[in-house]
Amino acid sequence: MTILVTGGAGYIGSHTVIELIQSGYDVVIVDNFSNSHPEVIQRIETITNQTIKYYANDIKDSEAMRKIFAENAISAVIHFAAYKAVGESVEQPLKYYENNVSGTIALLEIMQEFAVKTIVFSSSATVYGADNPSPLTEDMPTLDANNPYGYTKIVNERMLKDLAHSDPDWSVVLLRYFNPIGAYETGTIGEDPNGIPNNLMPYITQVAVGKLDQVSVFGNDYDTPDGTGVRDYIHVVDLAKGHVKAVAKALAEAQLYIYNLGTGQGYSVLDLIHTFSETNDVDVPYQITDRREGDIAVCYADPTKAQQELGWIAEKTLVDMCRDSWRWQQNNPNGYQAGNMND
Ligand code: NAD
Ligand code: WQD
Repeated sequence: MTILVTGGAGYIGSHTVIELIQSGYDVVIVDNFSNSHPEVIQRIETITNQTIKYYANDIKDSEAMRKIFAENAISAVIHFAAYKAVGESVEQPLKYYENNVSGTIALLEIMQEFAVKTIVFSSSATVYGADNPSPLTEDMPTLDANNPYGYTKIVNERMLKDLAHSDPDWSVVLLRYFNPIGAYETGTIGEDPNGIPNNLMPYITQVAVGKLDQVSVFGNDYDTPDGTGVRDYIHVVDLAKGHVKAVAKALAEAQLYIYNLGTGQGYSVLDLIHTFSETNDVDVPYQITDRREGDIAVCYADPTKAQQELGWIAEKTLVDMCRDSWRWQQNNPNGYQAGNMND
């Protein structure tokens, strides 16, 4: 059975492709490499010992997408392709609505044309906004995101819900990820942000490896045990495995499904810095700075629904996440740029 993975060369997509292949699925990737490197394809091939079929196309290019659907017997789509930088979405909202919303519309139209009506969508805990209390459950209202990126996820969710309601043949899974970190255990694929990282873990690893001086801890006056922000960090391999369960569920019975993918456990910024330091025996200098605009104090999942309905539970610990992120960073100080690995 063949799964089309949009954005399959990206951070979460590449890990999911591996888990899909190891579960017996055939995979086709479409990725325009706008936020990834073609080198990732070779790395996936080495891990899986298989040739990976991929198309270097934009999902908005309907001609190219039509060709992909014509050439492959696709049963379902896992749709990762999107832009994800929150700050950039505030500065360039149209770029985000164009890629993340128009991109999904273009994809869904082609799927409809080829009668492929099963889709797993990358949503985000950001759809819960600032007002819902943690632990967050899937039935909470999702009306207010803090930024244009978050609104693109809300609009996508709405659109996919409407589609599922319009035609019972559509099978739609909305997966709301919490904070993915970590990397594949080989240390050969991982998160490769462009420029200075926005997210905490890649910032920590780049400080630890000496590329950046120190971590800025964005505020220590939140109403949390140590005053710093609390998040639900989840290992990217656990997250990837959740997609395999989700696509199987969607293929078995056409419905609308919504699941949180998190651990249910909150850790603070200082917890993460200290665990990283201790696990890897490396210094991570930091300083407390002002809060970052738009951040909330606490965000963690209630993952019960995914456990009950998908039989999925996050298995890896914060120590696993810190160890694996560090192995990836040490082996690839400049990410996927050519000549990096094993130099
Ligand atoms: P990523 O940037 O590493 O991966 C996205 C991939 O999509 C990249 O390889 C990029 O080149 C590709 N892409 C983007 N626009 C495209 C287009 N128009 N056509 C073809 N390819 C395109 O991001 P990621 O961290 O792997 O995130 C994957 C998905 O999960 C995204 O939808 C993101 O919004 C969502 N998400 C991510 C996080 C997170 O913290 N990483 C959290 C919640 C949700
Ligand atoms: C985590 C914690 C920061 C950087 C974002 C998106 C969300 C989702 C995941 C896509 C917070 C603190 C961070 C730093 C810090 N992405 N921090 N210093 O903000 O929870 O979520 O990524 O869907 O939509 O908003 O993740 O890693 O940026 O921050 O102190 O240099 O670390 O304040 O408490 P966030 P993050």
